[in-house]
Amino acid sequence: MEDNTFARDIDQGLSAPFKQISSKYFYDDIGSGIFQQIMKMPEYYPTNCEFEILSLQSDKIIEKLNFTEPFNIVEFGAGDGIKTRQLLKKLVEKGVDFTYVPIDISSKAIEELENNMLSALPQMKISPLIGNYFTMAEELANLQMPALFLFLGGNIGNYKSDEAGDLLQQFGQNMRPGDKLLTGFDLQKNPATIRNAYDDKQGITKAFNLNLLSRINRELGGNIEIGQFDFYSHYDPENGEVKSYLVSLVPQRIYLSKTDRTYSFSQNELIWTELSKKYTFKGIEALAAGNNFRVVEHFMDCKHYFTDSLWIK
Ligand code: AVJ
Repeated sequence: MEDNTFARDIDQGLSAPFKQISSKYFYDDIGSGIFQQIMKMPEYYPTNCEFEILSLQSDKIIEKLNFTEPFNIVEFGAGDGIKTRQLLKKLVEKGVDFTYVPIDISSKAIEELENNMLSALPQMKISPLIGNYFTMAEELANLQMPALFLFLGGNIGNYKSDEAGDLLQQFGQNMRPGDKLLTGFDLQKNPATIRNAYDDKQGITKAFNLNLLSRINRELGGNIEIGQFDFYSHYDPENGEVKSYLVSLVPQRIYLSKTDRTYSFSQNELIWTELSKKYTFKGIEALAAGNNFRVVEHFMDCKHYFTDSLWIK
């Protein structure tokens, strides 16, 4: 089923007048491995910033949660969970009664996460769910306790503002008054710092993007010559948008056996692969208010590069 969705999306994206591939397709096993390398690059600051926030400010975050009964911590897209663990560890140490409910589309990722979490925090209650943000409504409705929702890592930046709104509305529908949401936002800063994070000298981000084409070859029977494409990334400090592209270096046609179609490229034609939006506090407040949340507090790293923003429903 997932396979057909991928084929359909790629077919549509490569047939459009302005070609695009959704950034959600970066994360197959190989792409997830490359993303791990990105997070270790000195230029890629968001991971370290959020790690710092959750390591040094968990006490303050917990204080602001202000739950008086046992609660759930529902996390969307937990990844390896190393950052989240800083917060969970504090809660366990304080003897707070909570259950950790990580949600991920990949059962393999969930299994690894559960093992890692339990070996670090054996006393913690963990109750994982497999699915995507939009299909979890029923399961979430069955969770009777108050909840803290986590959407960390700056993943919200991948959504255009209307899509970010749809996602927040979806979260909101599964939340009761008093429930809270902690979201990671990458902040606008010196444009050169942002540009370097998304266009590293070693070419890891380039490899991350080119893996989309290798994935198409692997999964859709493509004949794409990867060397005929380049990577281009651009930050616009006026609107806070990092946009990434693949560039066809030559006029060319590619064929996918899965769709049994040929797709033509002119020289220098682009495939848009990712939006990574950088926010201002004004933008974050507007996003909260526009989707019926109230901002409780922004928790920032010492350089003020990134914020985990706590909202109440
Ligand atoms: C995982 C979406 C937070 O946008 O910064 C890293 C992905 N793309 N380098 C981001 C990414 C290029 C990352 N997120």
